[in-house]
Amino acid sequence: MLSAAIVGVILGLAAAGICLRADIRRRRLKRKSLKFLTALDLAAPAALFGLATICFTYAFEIAISSLISEPIWLLISAFGWAIAALIVWTLGANEKFEARAPGRIFAAALIAGGAIRIPIDVLHSTPVLIPCLSILAGVLLLSFVTRKFRKQRGEHRILQHVAAQGDVLQPEYHRPTPECPEPERWRMYDSMTAEYEVLAFLQQLVETVKPKIIVETGTFMGISTLKLAEGLKANGAGKVITCEYDPVVYAKAVERINASGLKEWIDARNESSLEMQVDGQVDLLFSDSDPELREAEVRRYLPLLRANGIILIHDASSHLKTVREAALKLEREGLISTVLLPTPRGLVIAQKREGRTE
Ligand SMILES: C[S@@+](CC[C@H](N)C(=O)[O-])C[C@H]1O[C@@H](n2cnc3c(N)ncnc32)[C@H](O)[C@@H]1O
Repeated sequence: MLSAAIVGVILGLAAAGICLRADIRRRRLKRKSLKFLTALDLAAPAALFGLATICFTYAFEIAISSLISEPIWLLISAFGWAIAALIVWTLGANEKFEARAPGRIFAAALIAGGAIRIPIDVLHSTPVLIPCLSILAGVLLLSFVTRKFRKQRGEHRILQHVAAQGDVLQPEYHRPTPECPEPERWRMYDSMTAEYEVLAFLQQLVETVKPKIIVETGTFMGISTLKLAEGLKANGAGKVITCEYDPVVYAKAVERINASGLKEWIDARNESSLEMQVDGQVDLLFSDSDPELREAEVRRYLPLLRANGIILIHDASSHLKTVREAALKLEREGLISTVLLPTPRGLVIAQKREGRTE
């Protein structure tokens, strides 16, 4: 017959394996692109569930054979590990959707595991040095990984998240506004890429007005660029000239564009929207770079825009005031006529006033 310890270890490993598999699945992680800290994040709840299972099994078997009076301590330990495991498991719940600091779950496991062990060890008159060291290590690791994470540009965090997880659609989480009180009815890939419905609208608009030259400012991962290009492909003519000033982000966008089969419809440039040179008349401008630059972008491309050309300015909801106010200012100056579409992040559709045919 197998000893209690061996049975416990076998069941513990099985529990850890099941937890690990479930975690990889719920976070939709691509195993090939796993980084060290993310691997530790995955290992943390698995190890805690495994430990809890070992203690439960061992306590149960000892209790049955009534050999010693230890099962009570093993049971308390088992519950302790199980609580720590549940806390840490819950922390990973939203990892699929949002970019978070890699290593933070492992750090939380060190803290939760240590904190739960201290009262157990004190009651059992066991030294508390190891749980204290575990908490200290957890706190230091947590402050290190969160500080490193916060220093990164938001765009780079999302790129890393997408590299590990791929594109994941989720309900829009920008806050409700008076004009769009139920944003969760929309969907999004991430907080930078335009709403899923806006992306579909871009393609539909291109198919509707059949522009020859589209200018897009702010390529990011190229998802909106590809939607515009899909419209051009359906039309059989045109080019989308898109610019992204961050070289790291630009390189990722180019990878996506090259893999899309839509490359011939796209002219992607690694330059600033305020410096990019465009030859010919522009039929459609999609302004989607930094909110602070939108006014300058519209002013810059307005002279190049065809009289009946269309201007789209993203991020113009009432809670993202900068862009909305810029669009209304341009309207007050008599440069453009605007319609404010009530999407979660807001989309302005505009036309220039000058030269517009009646
Ligand atoms: C909101 S994201 C664009 C999202 C993208 N249009 C989409 O929906 O898929 C804004 C991007 O503009 C880039 N950006 C910011 N200022 C820029 C500038 N002056 N010229 C070009 N790109 C810029 C940022 O690096 C970021 O990647």
